[in-house]
Amino acid sequence: MAISFSLEGKAALVTGANTGIGQAIAVALAEAGADVAVAGRSEPTETLRAIEATGRKAVNIKADLSSIEPVQRVVDEALAGLGRLDVLVNNAGIIRRDDLLQFSEEDWDKVIDTNLKTLFFLSQAAARHMAERGSGKIINIASLLTFQGGIRVPSYAAAKSGVGG
Ligand SMILES: NC(=O)c1ccc[n+]([C@@H]2O[C@H](COP(=O)([O-])OP(=O)(O)OC[C@H]3O[C@@H](n4cnc5c(N)ncnc54)[C@H](OP(=O)(O)O)[C@@H]3O)[C@@H](O)[C@H]2O)c1
Repeated sequence: MAISFSLEGKAALVTGANTGIGQAIAVALAEAGADVAVAGRSEPTETLRAIEATGRKAVNIKADLSSIEPVQRVVDEALAGLGRLDVLVNNAGIIRRDDLLQFSEEDWDKVIDTNLKTLFFLSQAAARHMAERGSGKIINIASLLTFQGGIRVPSYAAAKSGVGG
Protein backbone atom coordinates (compact mmCIF):
# COMPACT_ATOMS: atom_id res chain seq x y z
CA MET A 1 0.00 0.00 0.00
CA ALA A 2 1.33 3.46 -0.89
CA ILE A 3 2.21 5.48 2.19
CA SER A 4 0.91 9.05 2.30
CA PHE A 5 3.77 11.55 2.36
CA SER A 6 6.25 8.96 1.12
CA LEU A 7 9.49 10.53 -0.11
CA GLU A 8 10.83 7.29 -1.56
CA GLY A 9 13.32 8.08 -4.33
CA LYS A 10 13.60 11.76 -3.37
CA ALA A 11 16.66 13.66 -2.17
CA ALA A 12 16.67 16.44 0.42
CA LEU A 13 19.16 19.00 1.70
CA VAL A 14 18.76 20.37 5.25
CA THR A 15 20.88 23.18 6.70
CA GLY A 16 21.88 23.26 10.36
CA ALA A 17 20.94 19.65 11.00
CA ASN A 18 23.52 18.67 13.63
CA THR A 19 21.06 19.55 16.38
CA GLY A 20 17.58 20.84 17.27
CA ILE A 21 14.79 21.30 14.75
CA GLY A 22 17.08 20.72 11.75
CA GLN A 23 18.16 17.34 13.09
CA ALA A 24 14.53 16.32 13.64
CA ILE A 25 13.61 17.45 10.11
CA ALA A 26 16.54 15.60 8.51
CA VAL A 27 15.72 12.36 10.31
CA ALA A 28 11.99 12.71 9.59
CA LEU A 29 12.71 13.18 5.87
CA ALA A 30 14.84 10.02 5.93
CA GLU A 31 12.12 8.13 7.78
CA ALA A 32 9.73 9.22 5.03
CA GLY A 33 12.08 7.65 2.46
CA ALA A 34 14.35 10.46 1.26
CA ASP A 35 18.13 10.41 1.02
CA VAL A 36 19.38 13.41 2.97
CA ALA A 37 22.35 15.77 2.76
CA VAL A 38 23.04 17.94 5.79
CA ALA A 39 24.99 21.19 5.54
CA GLY A 40 26.48 23.01 8.49
CA ARG A 41 29.55 24.10 10.38
CA SER A 42 29.45 21.53 13.23
CA GLU A 43 29.92 17.77 12.88
CA PRO A 44 26.47 16.18 12.48
CA THR A 45 27.62 12.73 13.67
CA GLU A 46 24.40 11.85 15.51
CA THR A 47 22.21 13.01 12.61
CA LEU A 48 24.18 11.06 9.99
CA ARG A 49 23.92 7.95 12.15
CA ALA A 50 20.15 8.42 12.58
CA ILE A 51 19.61 8.94 8.83
CA GLU A 52 21.64 5.84 7.99
CA ALA A 53 19.71 3.85 10.61
CA THR A 54 16.60 4.39 8.47
CA GLY A 55 18.38 2.73 5.54
CA ARG A 56 18.67 5.99 3.62
CA LYS A 57 21.83 7.64 2.29
CA ALA A 58 23.37 10.47 4.35
CA VAL A 59 25.75 13.08 2.95
CA ASN A 60 27.71 15.49 5.12
CA ILE A 61 28.52 18.94 3.70
CA LYS A 62 30.76 21.19 5.75
CA ALA A 63 29.75 24.82 5.32
CA ASP A 64 29.69 28.02 7.33
CA LEU A 65 26.44 29.62 6.23
CA SER A 66 27.13 33.02 7.79
CA SER A 67 28.07 34.16 4.28
CA ILE A 68 26.89 33.19 0.81
CA GLU A 69 30.39 32.07 -0.20
CA PRO A 70 29.65 28.31 0.09
CA VAL A 71 26.09 28.20 -1.33
CA GLN A 72 26.88 26.95 -4.83
CA ARG A 73 29.33 24.37 -3.46
CA VAL A 74 26.68 23.14 -0.99
CA VAL A 75 24.22 22.51 -3.83
CA ASP A 76 26.95 20.95 -6.00
CA GLU A 77 28.02 18.59 -3.19
CA ALA A 78 24.41 17.62 -2.48
CA LEU A 79 23.91 16.82 -6.16
CA ALA A 80 27.20 14.92 -6.34
CA GLY A 81 26.34 12.91 -3.23
CA LEU A 82 22.64 12.26 -3.86
CA GLY A 83 22.37 12.51 -7.64
CA ARG A 84 19.36 14.84 -7.46
CA LEU A 85 17.77 17.48 -5.24
CA ASP A 86 14.02 17.55 -4.67
CA VAL A 87 13.77 19.34 -1.32
CA LEU A 88 15.73 22.12 0.37
CA VAL A 89 15.01 22.94 4.00
CA ASN A 90 16.54 26.25 5.08
CA ASN A 91 16.74 25.65 8.81
CA ALA A 92 20.11 27.04 9.96
CA GLY A 93 19.64 30.16 12.03
CA ILE A 94 21.00 32.21 14.90
CA ILE A 95 19.64 34.78 17.32
CA ARG A 96 21.33 37.71 19.06
CA ARG A 97 19.73 39.48 22.02
CA ASP A 98 20.36 43.01 23.24
CA ASP A 99 18.47 46.17 24.10
CA LEU A 100 17.40 48.30 21.17
CA LEU A 101 19.40 51.32 22.33
CA GLN A 102 22.72 49.47 22.23
CA PHE A 103 22.09 46.75 19.62
CA SER A 104 25.32 46.41 17.60
CA GLU A 105 25.84 46.49 13.85
CA GLU A 106 27.72 43.19 14.17
CA ASP A 107 24.72 41.49 15.78
CA TRP A 108 22.47 43.00 13.11
CA ASP A 109 24.65 41.82 10.20
CA LYS A 110 25.39 38.32 11.55
CA VAL A 111 21.72 37.46 11.99
CA ILE A 112 20.55 39.05 8.73
CA ASP A 113 23.38 37.36 6.80
CA THR A 114 22.79 33.88 8.23
CA ASN A 115 19.00 33.86 8.59
CA LEU A 116 18.02 35.84 5.49
CA LYS A 117 20.78 36.49 2.95
CA THR A 118 22.20 32.95 2.87
CA LEU A 119 18.69 31.52 2.93
CA PHE A 120 17.83 33.46 -0.22
CA PHE A 121 21.00 32.72 -2.17
CA LEU A 122 21.08 29.04 -1.20
CA SER A 123 17.46 28.85 -2.33
CA GLN A 124 18.44 30.53 -5.59
CA ALA A 125 21.24 28.02 -6.21
CA ALA A 126 18.91 25.09 -5.44
CA ALA A 127 16.06 26.62 -7.45
CA ARG A 128 18.24 26.91 -10.55
CA HIS A 129 18.72 23.13 -10.44
CA MET A 130 15.06 22.48 -9.58
CA ALA A 131 13.83 24.77 -12.37
CA GLU A 132 16.02 22.93 -14.85
CA ARG A 133 14.52 19.62 -13.70
CA GLY A 134 11.00 21.05 -13.62
CA SER A 135 10.19 20.53 -9.93
CA GLY A 136 11.37 21.00 -6.38
CA LYS A 137 10.30 22.18 -2.93
CA ILE A 138 11.96 24.82 -0.77
CA ILE A 139 10.92 25.02 2.88
CA ASN A 140 12.03 27.94 5.02
CA ILE A 141 11.91 27.77 8.82
CA ALA A 142 10.39 31.05 9.94
CA SER A 143 9.26 31.99 13.46
CA LEU A 144 6.43 33.51 15.43
CA LEU A 145 8.60 36.63 15.10
CA THR A 146 7.85 36.54 11.37
CA PHE A 147 4.45 37.87 12.38
CA GLN A 148 5.15 40.13 15.36
CA GLY A 149 7.90 42.26 16.83
CA GLY A 150 10.27 40.80 19.40
CA ILE A 151 11.71 42.45 22.49
CA ARG A 152 15.58 42.52 22.43
CA VAL A 153 15.77 40.62 19.11
CA PRO A 154 15.47 43.28 16.39
CA SER A 155 17.71 41.60 13.79
CA TYR A 156 16.07 38.21 14.36
CA ALA A 157 12.56 39.68 13.99
CA ALA A 158 13.65 41.57 10.86
CA ALA A 159 15.30 38.48 9.33
CA LYS A 160 12.37 36.18 10.07
CA SER A 161 9.92 38.80 8.77
CA GLY A 162 12.05 38.84 5.63
CA VAL A 163 11.81 35.07 5.41
CA GLY A 164 8.03 35.38 5.52
CA GLY A 165 8.20 37.96 2.75
N1 LIG B 1 13.73 26.82 18.93
C1 LIG B 1 12.74 27.66 18.74
O1 LIG B 1 11.95 27.98 19.64
C2 LIG B 1 12.49 28.26 17.37
C3 LIG B 1 11.33 28.98 17.18
C4 LIG B 1 11.08 29.53 15.92
C5 LIG B 1 11.98 29.35 14.89
N2 LIG B 1 13.11 28.64 15.12
C6 LIG B 1 14.04 28.50 13.99
O2 LIG B 1 14.27 27.13 13.77
C7 LIG B 1 15.57 26.95 13.22
C8 LIG B 1 16.34 25.93 14.08
O3 LIG B 1 16.36 26.40 15.41
P1 LIG B 1 16.79 25.49 16.64
O4 LIG B 1 15.98 25.93 17.80
O5 LIG B 1 16.80 24.06 16.28
O6 LIG B 1 18.24 26.09 16.89
P2 LIG B 1 19.66 25.39 17.16
O7 LIG B 1 19.48 24.16 17.96
O8 LIG B 1 20.52 26.49 17.67
O9 LIG B 1 20.10 24.99 15.69
C9 LIG B 1 20.47 25.95 14.74
C10 LIG B 1 21.23 25.25 13.65
O10 LIG B 1 21.70 26.23 12.73
C11 LIG B 1 23.09 26.02 12.56
N3 LIG B 1 23.82 27.24 12.22
C12 LIG B 1 23.79 28.43 12.83
N4 LIG B 1 24.66 29.27 12.26
C13 LIG B 1 25.27 28.59 11.26
C14 LIG B 1 26.26 28.90 10.31
N5 LIG B 1 26.86 30.09 10.26
N6 LIG B 1 26.64 27.96 9.42
C15 LIG B 1 26.08 26.71 9.46
N7 LIG B 1 25.14 26.36 10.34
C16 LIG B 1 24.73 27.29 11.23
C17 LIG B 1 23.56 25.51 13.92
O11 LIG B 1 24.85 24.97 13.83
P3 LIG B 1 25.84 25.05 15.13
O12 LIG B 1 25.42 23.92 16.03
O13 LIG B 1 27.17 24.87 14.52
O14 LIG B 1 25.65 26.40 15.76
C18 LIG B 1 22.47 24.52 14.20
O15 LIG B 1 22.68 23.35 13.47
C19 LIG B 1 16.22 28.34 13.20
O16 LIG B 1 16.06 28.91 11.93
C20 LIG B 1 15.42 29.09 14.24
O17 LIG B 1 15.44 30.48 14.03
C21 LIG B 1 13.39 28.09 16.32
